[in-house]
Amino acid sequence: MTRFSMGLQTGSELLFDNVRKAMSIEQGEPERLRLPDAGTVVRKAQVGIVGAGPAGLMLSHLLHRDGIDSVIVEVRSRKYIEERNRAGMLEQGTVDLMIETGIGERLKRQGLVHHGIELRFKGRGHRIDLSGLTDGKTVTIYPQHEVVKDLVAARAAASGEIVFEAEDVIVHGYDGSAPVIRFRKHGEVQELACDFIAGCDGFHGICRQSFPAGVLTLYDRIYPFGWLGILAKAPPSSPELIYANHERGFALQSMRSPEISRLYLQCAPNEDINNWSDDRIWNELEARFATHDGWRLNQGPIIDRGITEMHSFVAEPMQFGRLFLAGDAAHIVPPTGAKGLNLAIADVRVLARGLSEFYRSGSQEWLDRYTEVCLRRVWKVQHFSWWMTSMLHRFEAHNAFDFRRQLAELEYVTSSRAPSQSLAENYVGLPME
Ligand code: APR
Ligand code: PHB
Repeated sequence: MTRFSMGLQTGSELLFDNVRKAMSIEQGEPERLRLPDAGTVVRKAQVGIVGAGPAGLMLSHLLHRDGIDSVIVEVRSRKYIEERNRAGMLEQGTVDLMIETGIGERLKRQGLVHHGIELRFKGRGHRIDLSGLTDGKTVTIYPQHEVVKDLVAARAAASGEIVFEAEDVIVHGYDGSAPVIRFRKHGEVQELACDFIAGCDGFHGICRQSFPAGVLTLYDRIYPFGWLGILAKAPPSSPELIYANHERGFALQSMRSPEISRLYLQCAPNEDINNWSDDRIWNELEARFATHDGWRLNQGPIIDRGITEMHSFVAEPMQFGRLFLAGDAAHIVPPTGAKGLNLAIADVRVLARGLSEFYRSGSQEWLDRYTEVCLRRVWKVQHFSWWMTSMLHRFEAHNAFDFRRQLAELEYVTSSRAPSQSLAENYVGLPME
């Protein structure tokens, strides 16, 4: 990493200085407001971003396009974030955004466009025609770490800075007008003075936790199961995703490429992955996907495996002073429906717009509405993810009545246009406000 300089002489900073003067923000140079400790390296950026996940990277990319400079501070290495296996389904709006903002080349070549999904229960498959029910919209299978690679490459091409492997990251000063991200890199303490901080540091990050006591209200639900996920060197057994409700528990067939299947099965929440031999995994998947017409699951070597917890969580508000939370830092959803990444992208679109308005016109109106605008979508997506999860999984407390009720709901959803359309429009992604 290059050593920090005291200031970035970019065109956008001149614009920012003008806006600041026009708005009479009593900011001064950050180093005059608060003297850093001797030996601390200080620099500044208009926006400081904590976390180089999809939220932080996309925010930095969108801001750059509007002439706003940002620096991202990330605890992990570039290799780690570019290889981390996560969900892999992009809503239509996320795909459109990537293409419109110039980072969609690989996505257009490698993404697998899907026009429908299958809900499987009582040994039969039922197709939901996503495109037919949503005026032609689609979803695209494109793994999250590929989105991350595209965004990191775009930041690098634009000389945007990402500080990888930062240690002891803390944020302060955001309740006044001098926010600072402080961290250590190679043993040296560094401070990034900025106008705003975006907390894009995921569920376990420090930004949400640094809100003053009493400001946040937390809402959550922990599900009494997890997902055991595998990547297998086997062509997908069906061209479309299959969400299966079975007495033994939920199973999902997804994919990463025409050669690689991504499969999940419901397991105990604290399951020990070592209890699952390859044979046990395949037998369980076979049982849960079994149909009356002898559908077969393609099998192959398992090249990756892991357990995912199932959790719904929302922190309100998503802003305190000049610190804005986005993505998993503010909310998480269970993976049924693959909304986590898409919701993170929706947040940063709202935030980028608010920041752009601020630097362009001096108006804080959009920034002031950040929480309200984001939460409207967040809660609808929370509802959808909870609904899909509830309809498709076996709950500990379920009895025969509950199972029958789930099957009746699935039959209704797959046989009547109104509920299929509701599922489809949520699945492909609700429109942005
Ligand atoms: N300082 C700096 N970076 C941090 C810190 C910290 N204290 N704590 C965490 N991070 C980094 C993580 O290493 C990670 O790279 O913040 C990043 C957060 O990224 P994600 O967890 O991917 O969260 P987000 O960008 O909001 O992406 C949306 O929704 O459902 C999920 O799988 C989906 O990961 C996706 C997420
Ligand atoms: C995935 O491909 O990882 C995936 C797809 C759809 C989901 C969840 C995960 O609902």
